[in-house]
Amino acid sequence: MPIIERDKLNAKIAELLDKHGKNRSALLPVLQDLQEEYGCLTGLIMQETAHAMEIHPSEVEGVVSFYSFFRTEGQEGRYVIRLCRTISCELAGKAQVANQFENELGIEFGETTPDGMFTLEYTNCLGMCDQGPAVMINDRLFARVTPAMVPQLIEDCRRDFLKSEFPEVVPSDVRKAGPIIQSDVEAGDALQAALELSRADFISRLRDSGLKGRGGAGFPTAVKWQLAAAARSDNKFVVCNADEGEPGTFKDRYLLFDQTDLMLTGMIMGGYAIGARKGFIYLRGEYLYLKKHIEDALTRFREQGRLGEAILGKDGFDFDIELRMGAGAYVCGEETALIESLEGFRGEPRNRPPFPVDTGFNNNPSIVNNVETFVAAALIAAKGSDWFKAHGTEKSTGTKLFSVSGDCKRPGIYELPFGTTVSQLLEEVGAESTKAVQIGGASGHCIPESEFDRTIAFEDVSSGGSIIVFDQSRDMLQVAKNFMEFFVEASCGQCTPCRDGNVTLLEGLEMLEEGRCPASYLKELTKLGETIQIASKCGLGQSSPNAFLSIVKHFKNELLGRAPKVS
Ligand SMILES: Cc1cc2nc3c(=O)[nH]c(=O)nc-3n(C[C@H](O)[C@H](O)[C@H](O)COP(=O)(O)O)c2cc1C
Ligand code: SF4
Repeated sequence: MPIIERDKLNAKIAELLDKHGKNRSALLPVLQDLQEEYGCLTGLIMQETAHAMEIHPSEVEGVVSFYSFFRTEGQEGRYVIRLCRTISCELAGKAQVANQFENELGIEFGETTPDGMFTLEYTNCLGMCDQGPAVMINDRLFARVTPAMVPQLIEDCRRDFLKSEFPEVVPSDVRKAGPIIQSDVEAGDALQAALELSRADFISRLRDSGLKGRGGAGFPTAVKWQLAAAARSDNKFVVCNADEGEPGTFKDRYLLFDQTDLMLTGMIMGGYAIGARKGFIYLRGEYLYLKKHIEDALTRFREQGRLGEAILGKDGFDFDIELRMGAGAYVCGEETALIESLEGFRGEPRNRPPFPVDTGFNNNPSIVNNVETFVAAALIAAKGSDWFKAHGTEKSTGTKLFSVSGDCKRPGIYELPFGTTVSQLLEEVGAESTKAVQIGGASGHCIPESEFDRTIAFEDVSSGGSIIVFDQSRDMLQVAKNFMEFFVEASCGQCTPCRDGNVTLLEGLEMLEEGRCPASYLKELTKLGETIQIASKCGLGQSSPNAFLSIVKHFKNELLGRAPKVS
């Protein structure tokens, strides 16, 4: 337990409030820096922070308890070993790695060693699905971990070898490049091209391109930007959703590192289009190792006059971007939860409407877009809408980046046109004897072999980019269970259908596993799943039963065919 002198603590808090601003929105960055300094957030730290920020201490505690990356006193060991429990890492051998950690440390997952040195925890997707099993030890990420590597990892912790300010980035495996990945567009030229157009003409170019949001829902980008542009306010915001937490998705990690300039340029164009002066990048806590790279790019952009006042000499166009770190909550990828989090609150989704284009950050008009959407917007500015529309289908223009993991020879990142069929994709990635494909991550749909001729497009099977392949050897009940466990944990708990309904679905799967779920009860569970889809408040709850329902629909006999467990 750290011994903290109150005076020094208060001086530190004052310094952090100077750095981040003395407003509620600074709460998460201040707490993150305090945790970095003191190792955990003690009662005193929370109390003094609340006092200095003039908010109630229970508010600070409420925030701290919401985010899994915040640690309170005595909660965790000096080294927190987080093993990814997402299905892709499961398929790659997570269980064996977990056993090895437990054997070496003599504790189970969820426990801390008696000397306070190590905590073992499961975590959700670390964005390394093509290179699993993945482990995060404090801020360091390890890919392709085998049981044989475990003793050395523990030894390195004991000798404090893992301490370094910004660990190196594990490179992405790009397997197929298309016009976005191969693009030779210089970000400065793209920005110049956009600023030469009027705001209205720039939005028209986006509209002509047919670009739809790449974060999953596929909302037309030009419509969103036009709505925010038309909103009457002098205070508007651009938000880049870099919270990539959908299990099986890791394509934004690639873009954030390898296409940083285009992503920032797309955000600046967003600022230009809607008349904003400030942008935020909300980067998931699990991608902390990308922070320095992005901040260096922001500094470079300021030096080059691409951020700041009168950007590229354009009078009246002032815009800057701030990087904010998430703190381990999948639901914060939902745009209104993300805004709550940016404002310094628990990441609990809001009712919609009103939408962020009217009532976003601090109730001001805001556009929230996915990383890939900003990259695509930057390229459309430079290359025109016809170039973009030359790829994809009529309703789903352009190419899409896919994160492919699971049972295939070549997992990694693929850029393919919308309209690609599931079977074409499977051939491309070297998948053989495939039983099913989960498209769109845990919140997506499970497609059986009989539907492999379907196309991946907004008008057929839509996807934010996650593709997980299952071969004939896989047990679809275990797949469904893994996804439901994820949702039970990820639900923010605000509304009953999502909070309790998903628990009931998971319990149903456990009954099936034990051979004690009759077909009639499975039918009831299906009805419950459909109710959760309709009655939940946000996209998390609304999509949480998708995998369950599609697996029940296509693999019912496999699910029901278990022998009862003999006790
Ligand atoms: C639970 C949940 C998690 C989400 N996570 C992300 C995410 O990590 N990245 C993202 O861009 N969109 C995510 N979304 C979608 C966002 O709410 C929003 O639609 C998106 O950022 C809009 O950007 P786009 O129009 O460019 O796709 C999530 C939605 C839900 C319901
Ligand atoms: S649907 Fe789930 S995640 Fe969304 S608000 Fe309700 S409880 Fe929270």
